[in-house]
Amino acid sequence: MKKQLLYVANWKSYLTHNQAIAFCKNNGPELQHLSKHASIVLCPDFTALAHIKPLLGHVCLGAQNCSSFEPGAHTGNVSAASLQEIGVQYCIVGHSERRKNNHETSEDVSKKVMLLLEQGIIPIICVSDNYASELKSIFEKIKNLALHSIVAYEPIQAIGTGKPADTTTITTTLSALKQEFYAHAPNMRISLLYGGSVSPESVQELKTIPHLDGFLIGKASTDFQKLKNIVE
Ligand code: PGA
Repeated sequence: MKKQLLYVANWKSYLTHNQAIAFCKNNGPELQHLSKHASIVLCPDFTALAHIKPLLGHVCLGAQNCSSFEPGAHTGNVSAASLQEIGVQYCIVGHSERRKNNHETSEDVSKKVMLLLEQGIIPIICVSDNYASELKSIFEKIKNLALHSIVAYEPIQAIGTGKPADTTTITTTLSALKQEFYAHAPNMRISLLYGGSVSPESVQELKTIPHLDGFLIGKASTDFQKLKNIVE
């Protein structure tokens, strides 16, 4: 049987609250149809999460970030507990844009991973070519856990450039990531995504990569026709 791939739409700040709702309303039936053959996760900004939830049907809801703290005195943060209450099923953590622009450390990311897992939310852990050091503090925390996490390999030079990494590099990195988890967190169930300039044009070749469980898609996922062409 053909493997059902996972498509995670990372809308970043491209779509505003109203645009995210309009996307779901305008493409409702087609989104339901697409999600019969693929697992689709839409990740709007925080303001749209609760509003698009009732429009999603079989499509899943994902957040783009969460607080690295428990609920408390942390102005401007959104806790994993809060995300769980509104029905968020997945959450992206450690995106390179946050590591760079918000000075997020791997230690911060590891705290987020734990808080999400405690809430039953599946973390989508973004890593770059620097994955060994990015994963170190995460492994210290999850080494004995038997839960499900997703790892998205996103080489920095491939994000938003229109030039995805080549399939050989992706294949090698995904098998190295598998090995890392086998060695440091053997009971964790891991799904592996690729992200960085995934488009209708690039995706066919990318789909031939062994061990690949799906894609993390930025810009192209904000255009429904492009998302549809990527999935189909
Ligand atoms: P891109 O972004 O598809 O626009 O390159 C991917 C990402 O940053 O997750």
